[in-house]
Amino acid sequence: MLKGKTIILGVTGSIAAYKAVDIASQLTQAGAKVDVIMTKAATEFVTPLTFQAITGRPVVTEMFESGSEFNVEHVSLAEAAKVIVIAPATANIIAKLAAGIADDMLCCTVLASKVPVIVAPAMDVNMYQNPITQDNLAKLKARNFITVGPASGRLASGKEGLGRLADTNDIIGTIRQVLGRGGDLAEKHIVVTAGGTQELIDPIRCITNRSSGKMGYALAEAARDRGARVTLITAPTSLTKPIGVEMVNVRTAQEMYQAVRDLVPQADALIMAAAVADYRPLSAAGDKIKKEGNRLTLELERTADILGSIKGEFISVGFAAESSNLVENAKQKLQQKELDLIVANDITVADSGFGSDNNQVTIIDQEGKIDSLPLLPKRELADRILDRVVEFLSGKGS
Ligand code: CTP
Repeated sequence: MLKGKTIILGVTGSIAAYKAVDIASQLTQAGAKVDVIMTKAATEFVTPLTFQAITGRPVVTEMFESGSEFNVEHVSLAEAAKVIVIAPATANIIAKLAAGIADDMLCCTVLASKVPVIVAPAMDVNMYQNPITQDNLAKLKARNFITVGPASGRLASGKEGLGRLADTNDIIGTIRQVLGRGGDLAEKHIVVTAGGTQELIDPIRCITNRSSGKMGYALAEAARDRGARVTLITAPTSLTKPIGVEMVNVRTAQEMYQAVRDLVPQADALIMAAAVADYRPLSAAGDKIKKEGNRLTLELERTADILGSIKGEFISVGFAAESSNLVENAKQKLQQKELDLIVANDITVADSGFGSDNNQVTIIDQEGKIDSLPLLPKRELADRILDRVVEFLSGKGS
């Protein structure tokens, strides 16, 4: 989605300016044309040459530069861009934008532009919390500027608090989300589940599985980037929260069941990528179980089948992890659970499925159409699955 898109990256004079180099690099690697505009103060922290080398494009620093490829630069820059992101944004640039001041190239470009502007503040905690800065930010938000961060943590001043530049992933996630507005899932609400549930044996032990949650998180991000409102119901994972996605944290199959039941009545699609425990201990011990003897028997009971029992007007997509008779077993689950689609993966394939960044799957629909996909990165696969969901939502599915 970033391929070929022109993005203006405004860099202002904060110690966090060096982090903008990584943002420029990641955007460029993803295929975007990144035009960097630096304020004079920003050049005190990082040289324009650094950005030029990273983006392979001229970097604008001066209002009245000659010999540049742009004509009436701030206007032509503003027209070419799909989005402007200012990261880091100082209290100074925020104040100037709020007041409509146009005394440097970055301010002029923002004023001359009609595209979405993302502002990622970075400054001292007191400067950030100062009512003047807060008022200015509120003014910008009221004018549809999008803000991301700041994060909390150790600041350059040595103090702890709000003021750190948002994480690069969050800034790039916000750019993707903004570019995806009006995509083929716009105005749709997609509920995705992810991760392996944990069924308590005692206060510190549980039964779980090796699901990393990566497939569900990839689906949530991909749906967000196609314009959807996304709710991610997640069992514990080590993954970072995707920005722009509503999170519901659960632990057990029963908690996941309740969360899905509460959320799907208003949803357009439910994608159950979570590895839900089929059995849980009959009762969790209140105290830690002490070891005694050579054997311990745990009595287990079935959990509720979430996909199989929660029905409604939404498109339902299930997953089937199989080690044999892939298509046959998956078809059976599709019928039993009355799904629209099932995504089946063979857990014996190397570098695929559980824990991996890749997955090789076969998608089967209600009409028996079987689509065997090659090994793909989970993020790419997420889009292939969503292509099918879009077909169903537009009535073109079977
Ligand atoms: N699922 C569910 N509720 C459960 C268990 C699983 O909604 N209690 C969902 C999973 O999220 C997945 C699909 O159902 O989308 C998997 O189906 P399931 O029959 O549970 O698969 P397995 O656990 O692999 O079943 P089996 O052990 O019978 O192969």
